[in-house]
Amino acid sequence: MALHWLFPTPVLQVDLEPDKDAAAAMEAQLKAFDRDVFEHPEFRMRNNLTGDLLGRAGLDQLHRTEAFQWLNHALAIQVESYLNSLLGPDHGLEVHIQKAWPVVCAREGGTIESHTHRNAQLSAVFYVRTEEDNSSGELEFQAPENYFSHVMAIPFSEAAVSGGVFAPKQHRLLLFPSDLTHRVTPYQGQATRYSVSYDLAITTPPGQGREMRVPHPMDWVPLSGFGSA
Ligand SMILES: [Fe+2]
Repeated sequence: MALHWLFPTPVLQVDLEPDKDAAAAMEAQLKAFDRDVFEHPEFRMRNNLTGDLLGRAGLDQLHRTEAFQWLNHALAIQVESYLNSLLGPDHGLEVHIQKAWPVVCAREGGTIESHTHRNAQLSAVFYVRTEEDNSSGELEFQAPENYFSHVMAIPFSEAAVSGGVFAPKQHRLLLFPSDLTHRVTPYQGQATRYSVSYDLAITTPPGQGREMRVPHPMDWVPLSGFGSA
């Protein structure tokens, strides 16, 4: 007897190799965030801090900084190969960075609760600074559980073969569908851990809308331009 698990979810994992300067620039940028924001008395008691969560101007726009141009470029290459693998080289889609934000995991028990990124289609995580041989603080993906709970009286966790766990490693990049539920298991380390998250949107090129695809933002017309609703 064999169980065949259908509907696989494509998650890309690649270990990148930034040169010394690029790696140092990214780490310095996150160190500054850690020092200026995380060490602020208002946030010091948190076990994680994300630029996205804070909703402060600019903290989710890390991709516009000089330090992250190298990663933007590497991400562009990896996203293209991800889409090529899934859709073939003629997919004709454009990918946009919506936002990118720093994530700091505290030394003792830094964790991020289960969530999805409802605003995006593809999301990425890149580990800027981790400790060698420290496998704590894994990224764990969870399959959608509503199918099982609708048709069988058992929760998905009891039926699932694997929780889909990815080990954190310095300069490792993970790319995954944004509606895939994920969490960070508790991190324990000598130093705080730095990573960066990206949210991406997939659209058609300008002027080339297709059924069931999101058109390019240049084809959009703000309704507010016609007066307040
Ligand atoms: Fe996330």
